[in-house]
Amino acid sequence: MTPPLMPHSMIPMQPFDLDDDSAFQAWREARLEPYKSLVGTPVIAVRDVARLESAEHAALLASCRSMNMAIYQAGSPVDKSAIRALGRQFGLESLDMNLRADEDSITTLRVVAESAGTHYIPYTNRPLNWHTDGYYNRPEEQVRGIVMHCVSTSASGGDNLFLDPEIAYLLMRDENADYIRALMQPDAMTIPANIEAGVELRPAQSGPVFSVSASGALHMRYTARTRSIEWKDDRDTRLAAGFLIELLNSDSLYIVRHRLSAGQGIICNNVLHKREAFEDDANTGQTRLLYRARYHERIQGT
Ligand SMILES: [Fe+2]
Repeated sequence: MTPPLMPHSMIPMQPFDLDDDSAFQAWREARLEPYKSLVGTPVIAVRDVARLESAEHAALLASCRSMNMAIYQAGSPVDKSAIRALGRQFGLESLDMNLRADEDSITTLRVVAESAGTHYIPYTNRPLNWHTDGYYNRPEEQVRGIVMHCVSTSASGGDNLFLDPEIAYLLMRDENADYIRALMQPDAMTIPANIEAGVELRPAQSGPVFSVSASGALHMRYTARTRSIEWKDDRDTRLAAGFLIELLNSDSLYIVRHRLSAGQGIICNNVLHKREAFEDDANTGQTRLLYRARYHERIQGT
């Protein structure tokens, strides 16, 4: 099922202005609309991700415009160059460099033996709590777009859960606009420096949870982890962080659950996501393998 396309003329210009309630209310209605008719997870079939047909491109874009994400089912094998080509068709060009990306900056996600020297959860089969990608990045290198493609699946588990940050913002503003104000503070959430063996790999990084870009797009920087994170010590920030945890752990109808099967992927504006634990079975070849590309741009036209 394809969510309805929201014409640009219908999008109010200032929905994120806390002093403009009528703009917020109009935008609010439009953002909630697609969920009213949502039955299961919409999966958009595409023949070749590297060369989308115009109807396929339009369907993916419509989903990204209304929900900040689209899940596709590819009709032909997808390699890293196809993922690069998929991103380019949506203006996703600048790949984020991270410590453990492969040389081409597209990360291969699979279980890596502990002896290989990594204890990072993405490379294990353990659950991965709610976050947006790159929350530890510098402000000018925030991750705004992501393509994640599933090459093969685990024997069991590994479901992903997704929540559009605009919905998180909307529900929080419904609850208390002061929570939004608190989370827009430039020092709302601080990630301490990453130091390994006495070497500083990344300096401490403070920033807001919610911010609005020059083009008027909402961006969210978040992790639900409680270790290695410092929330600003004020009442509204604490309450806002608590509100988010409660929302993310609820059975909210706005949380999209999906287990990516082989050949499926997601293209999104760095929506909130988590991953459940999974089990591989090397004997049957059921091992989870994903490619992930992170970009500094948002999806063009969203
Ligand atoms: Fe992630």
